[in-house]
Amino acid sequence: MRKNIVAGNWKMNNDLAQTESLLTDLKKQTQTSIAEVMIAPAFTNLYPAFQALKSTNIEVIAQNMHFAENGAYTGEVSGSMLKSVGIETVILGHSERREYFNETDEILAKKVDAALAKGMRVVFCFGEVLEDRKSNNQEKIVENQIKNALFHLGPAAFQNIILAYEPVWAIGTGETASPEQAQDMHAFIRKTLATKYGADIAEEVSILYGGSVKPANAEEIFSKPDVDGGLIGGASLNADDFFAIVNAF
Ligand code: PGA
Repeated sequence: MRKNIVAGNWKMNNDLAQTESLLTDLKKQTQTSIAEVMIAPAFTNLYPAFQALKSTNIEVIAQNMHFAENGAYTGEVSGSMLKSVGIETVILGHSERREYFNETDEILAKKVDAALAKGMRVVFCFGEVLEDRKSNNQEKIVENQIKNALFHLGPAAFQNIILAYEPVWAIGTGETASPEQAQDMHAFIRKTLATKYGADIAEEVSILYGGSVKPANAEEIFSKPDVDGGLIGGASLNADDFFAIVNAF
């Protein structure tokens, strides 16, 4: 059975003091759902967050990593470095990385390989921009993003891959994909996986939706059969809101 997962992407928010305060608030929350819960603080706060949450059910994950093991890559962080501070899961391919840091499908394929080689799990993000949606090209775009970065992998790799469909037009805009739009795309993603890897593997992969998920809309989005959880930006910065979403299953 595939898992329900709610992951909070803090992006470039929260200094150390703010991180500690949010971690304290998160530890006070009660989880009533069976979802796996993850949070992704900035690199500088990964280790304190890992230490603070290691006795809880909340996994601390990274927002990005480099594909190289080490070397002359000023400003970058490797999978080994993440693992050395307790991090076992990494978000890759977020649209902000693609847009502002020129991450291409080719780079992302290398990052995915590097993370999997380290035994890490990957939350792999993709999604179309508004023009693609307006021209009804969203399926082609998403299919290519998945194929280009993931379809060189063998079937076993998908045990460590979580997919996150994030339509770019819905990220941080307050405009959510309708539950039906999310379901249609998630079903398409699963069909795309099934065509290459077979139905059994496609059924096992968790597919998260991301883009303006809030306490008010989470339950309806999560009720869709192919939506297995959410990647939450803005609403993950408040512990009550985040846990309202965690408990929306
Ligand atoms: P949002 O961000 O929830 O603030 O729209 C989602 C994301 O970028 O992962």
